[in-house]
Amino acid sequence: MTISVRNLVKTYNTTAVIKGISFEVAANEFLTLLGPSGCGKTTTLRCIAGLETISEGEIRINDRVVSDAAQDVFVPPNERHLGMVFQSYAVWPHMTVAQNVAFPLTVRGRKDNADDVKWALDIVGMGHLAERRPSELSGGQQQRVALARAIAGHPDLLLFDEPLSNLDARLRDRTRLEISRIQRELKVPAIYVTHDQTEALSMSDRIIVMESGNVMQQGTPDEIYHAPVSRFVADFIGSANFLNVRREGDQWFVADGTALRVHAQPQGDRDRPLSALIRPEAIRVERADPAAGAPADAPDLNRLRGVVTRSVFLGAYIEHMVEIAGKQVRAHTREAIAAGTPINLVFDAADCRLVDNND
Ligand SMILES: Nc1ncnc2c1ncn2[C@@H]1O[C@H](COP(=O)(O)OP(=O)(O)O)[C@@H](O)[C@H]1O
Ligand SMILES: [Mg+2]
Repeated sequence: MTISVRNLVKTYNTTAVIKGISFEVAANEFLTLLGPSGCGKTTTLRCIAGLETISEGEIRINDRVVSDAAQDVFVPPNERHLGMVFQSYAVWPHMTVAQNVAFPLTVRGRKDNADDVKWALDIVGMGHLAERRPSELSGGQQQRVALARAIAGHPDLLLFDEPLSNLDARLRDRTRLEISRIQRELKVPAIYVTHDQTEALSMSDRIIVMESGNVMQQGTPDEIYHAPVSRFVADFIGSANFLNVRREGDQWFVADGTALRVHAQPQGDRDRPLSALIRPEAIRVERADPAAGAPADAPDLNRLRGVVTRSVFLGAYIEHMVEIAGKQVRAHTREAIAAGTPINLVFDAADCRLVDNND
């Protein structure tokens, strides 16, 4: 284990904005903190970087305690051996690219740094622009300079705070792949903060979903997407349909009385409020008109009766809003379906998960 955050609390005035979170980052791991604006991602990162003192808990980097509220330990940022990339590139306009990259090394007393600067600029593909000024560079190139500056000191840990937010969509896709490649090449753990689910899913070994200063779920992108623990997590990642469900014994029913076959019976208190989650891509739309209801000949299938209320062309597919028992559900097809058409939505029990109804 490389980085550990234990029971971290951060209070401003008397308000706790981080409410006792714990997580670890393994060697070489790419960990993403994902959550809506204001949930505490930046604050967590700044605590790890040593840009904030912590109110409670402990932070270790490579088994060295860098912040410990109880023991009053606080290692200053420049002694934590980390590199940080911000959303605003924060490159100095009056310095050349090479001088920008050299700056943190010089501050730390490493005057003989030309080799490190060249190495870092080559990794981000900016070696040929070393003598340029930031004003002569595009936003994407400036972000690469910021990345080179973060890695030039061979840090033990890389921290990213929404580094792609200011780039246009195409450049964002490219830079995303670049950051992943560089992190893997350097074999250094990274903590990456974003509110963007695509970035989180595509770049991370593991994702921590945060909300209001708490950790809601930790897991691989696959786990977070396919097995979210709550309605909040399911809704934050990907497109999600929820149906209200009612329980009778081990049987589950939707509001129109149709039986629902689910992935698994929920753990813990089964009387707590639950919703059934079905992702749009798990749903098949049947134009034919067999009797609705759980088909007796296919024990792992669900078939719900609905009516298309409106449709949107999205290029790769057409998204239909389908009314089922008073709820709107999204389903995709490639062909058009007129509003008002009755259809059946068919999906596997395995694709129907009961999640905590906590939003
Ligand atoms: N210096 C500060 N003083 C008071 N409140 C702050 C300060 N910095 C952040 N906050 C509050 O802490 C919460 C979390 O902020 P932040 O970590 O920036 O969220 P995120 O990065 O997830 O958008 C927000 O409610 C924010 O207003
Ligand atoms: Mg932030």
